[in-house]
Amino acid sequence: MKHYSIASVPGDGIGPEVIGAGVAVLQALAQHSNRFSLDVTGFDYGSDHYRKYGVMMPADALDRLRGFDAIYFGAVGAPDIPDHITLWGLRLAICQGFDQYANVRPTRILQGLRSPLRDCSTADLDWVIVRENSEGEYAGQGGRSHRGHPEEVATEVSIFTRAGVARIMRFAFQLARSRPRKHITVVTKSNAQRHGMVLWDEIASSTAAEYPDVTWDKMLVDAMTVRMVHDPASLDVIVATNLHADILSDLAAALAGSIGIAPTANLNPERTYPSMFEPIHGSAFDITGKGIANPVGAFWTAAQMLEHLGEMDAAARLMNAVEQVTANGPRTRDLGGDATTVQVTNAVIAAIEAGHT
Ligand SMILES: NC(=O)c1ccc[n+]([C@@H]2O[C@H](COP(=O)([O-])OP(=O)(O)OC[C@H]3O[C@@H](n4cnc5c(N)ncnc54)[C@H](O)[C@@H]3O)[C@@H](O)[C@H]2O)c1
Repeated sequence: MKHYSIASVPGDGIGPEVIGAGVAVLQALAQHSNRFSLDVTGFDYGSDHYRKYGVMMPADALDRLRGFDAIYFGAVGAPDIPDHITLWGLRLAICQGFDQYANVRPTRILQGLRSPLRDCSTADLDWVIVRENSEGEYAGQGGRSHRGHPEEVATEVSIFTRAGVARIMRFAFQLARSRPRKHITVVTKSNAQRHGMVLWDEIASSTAAEYPDVTWDKMLVDAMTVRMVHDPASLDVIVATNLHADILSDLAAALAGSIGIAPTANLNPERTYPSMFEPIHGSAFDITGKGIANPVGAFWTAAQMLEHLGEMDAAARLMNAVEQVTANGPRTRDLGGDATTVQVTNAVIAAIEAGHT
């Protein structure tokens, strides 16, 4: 019997609501497993912590999180604190501190859900977006001078290193190789950005030469949005920079039915540090506290966490249970239903327990 220690950082807004639901589902899976058990330790890092102590998490937070097998994260962001403080103080601090450089975002149309793309079937939309998660446009380089004066200047410098690009390309091609279609689309903007994005393209091309069994093509990011809408079946694995993938994966989630279902894994593939798993949505101020947040993104990312831990059966059982519920209801409002977070959670737990899965 294996035992896993999970750190949960529910964070802000609907984060605690969906992570609470996810922990309940994980505990139900563990109870019905003779392979593993888990304990979950909660950390109250986030905007309330900032209001009390002036920091999103304490200075030794990474040391406290380091020993866990994985981190289960909710969302960060509050209406009264600037987003760059909350994001950089918590989520990016963990991702960068633990070198979680590969951000993996699967998108598919779960059983019973309807894509806003008319006639797009479950088989037509099955993507994994790989987001470079350690540098690029979110490297934090830049500064401001002459603050508040007419001549004020601010720079936000994108950083592309050969080592950083090469490792994400290899990771993405490797992932493409493991999937039935073995196809990858490299997203770029090298027509307008002629330094970092050209290096990106060159490394994509040399990596492709190492994977002759993987077919690949290249798309400018603007044209990519059109292809995702008009020709979803032509895509499989997609690799893109930190900013491009951030934007494209929200589009992907919406095309698959709702942002409330989309998961993401922030991986440190070498396993030197714990990896972090979260739904892709944010704090969702407009529905916080109403009990109607869709917990499916938190469940799907829990399945990614189980896969990362090597618990493939439990991950498959969880996704089967989730898809029974997306197919037959109950569903939350963002998916056209009127169920609460708790009702969907209970239905998924019931599906796990009934062994329908
Ligand atoms: N990873 C993160 O922690 C993360 C990601 C995105 C945004 N944010 C932060 O969250 C805050 C709000 O950002 P936003 O409004 O741009 O994005 P958001 O994802 O919080 O919300 C966008 C819309 O999607 C809906 N939505 C999101 N998750 C849902 C769910 N589980 N069920 C049903 N509906 C859901 C919301 O109600 C809202 O209408 C900001 O402070 C932002 O910085 C954090």
